[in-house]
Amino acid sequence: MRRQKRLGGLTVLVRCDPPVRRRSFVHLALLAAVIAAAVTAVAVAIPWLPVSASKERERIDLTYWLATGIAIMIFSVVAAAILYSVWRFRVHPDDDSDGPPIHGHTGLEIVWTAIPTALVTAIAIVSAIVLHDNGTVPKNALHVTVTAQQFTWVFNYRDGPGKGVDLPDLYLPKDRSVILEIGSKDVIHSFWVPEFGQKQDAVPGRINPLKITATRIGTYPVICTELCGLGHALMRRRAIVLSQADFNTASWAKSGTSAAPPPPPGGGTSGSASGKAIFVATGCNACHTLAAAGANAKVGPDLDKLPAEAKRAGQPLEQFIRTSIVDPNAYIEPGFPKGTMPTNFGTKIKKADLDTLVQYLIKSSKGGGK
Ligand code: CUA
Repeated sequence: MRRQKRLGGLTVLVRCDPPVRRRSFVHLALLAAVIAAAVTAVAVAIPWLPVSASKERERIDLTYWLATGIAIMIFSVVAAAILYSVWRFRVHPDDDSDGPPIHGHTGLEIVWTAIPTALVTAIAIVSAIVLHDNGTVPKNALHVTVTAQQFTWVFNYRDGPGKGVDLPDLYLPKDRSVILEIGSKDVIHSFWVPEFGQKQDAVPGRINPLKITATRIGTYPVICTELCGLGHALMRRRAIVLSQADFNTASWAKSGTSAAPPPPPGGGTSGSASGKAIFVATGCNACHTLAAAGANAKVGPDLDKLPAEAKRAGQPLEQFIRTSIVDPNAYIEPGFPKGTMPTNFGTKIKKADLDTLVQYLIKSSKGGGK
């Protein structure tokens, strides 16, 4: 009979007078509002995301904030209900009786099934619209072929002011869609500019498209985001967004094909390139150490030790350096794998730049290192 009595007592608790129940709901709602405000402050006040620099990224952010807003709402209601129950319905320390056999509440169950269904459907609809808009190619889009290779990127313009040139950095006009056609020469890489908000795999034998409509003038990092070998962490170039006017002057494209350094954003003119500039623009610093250029990568042989390496190869220094650039597999320094260095530098670097680079390496390696 004791149990029945208890049950009766609990029934009173649940079926309390309307004013009491209303007060409970007010308490719950207040608690949920406080939690929502705290979580929203954390979400908004801390800059979790990099700055947005493309239309596609703006659309992705919209989806992100919609989902985050919904998550904050649900979290606040659930957390408030748990905290309120712990506080309001806790039992005495010496009470170890069973809880009441509750059947459930059909109305409540329908509500908590219907609301999440509606919310998830809303996210799905918004995501589908964003995916469609981000994938739609406008008629005036600019086409750029992006080629990934261990361990650098090459950008080639199929049309527009820079048509036909190979560039070590990606130049984009503001407010005009650019279609990147991304491929790879060797292994799987992945193209990522955080400020543009999208990633696309670079797969050998395939061309994967990616649309970017830049909205903010500036320089952003192009990052390889797929582990692709020893130099993966250093496989970085730059994406430079120019105003339409600066982009159309095409002064940025003049240094193309050669490995001369890119001009600064805004279209400055570059004179004849220095050896160090060619070294960096060609991406040598991604894999090699050379004190004079501030490079300290360890994928390939240490270029401060070129004289000793030339001696081991049994070649005069100048000939050794030149051959190693244009035909890297001719001699392999002990301890390094064959076939790692790209074999196309002979065609990628202009003759005059190659001479400058060779002289620069002779001078630097004799000056510093052993
Ligand atoms: Cu290319 Cu990682």
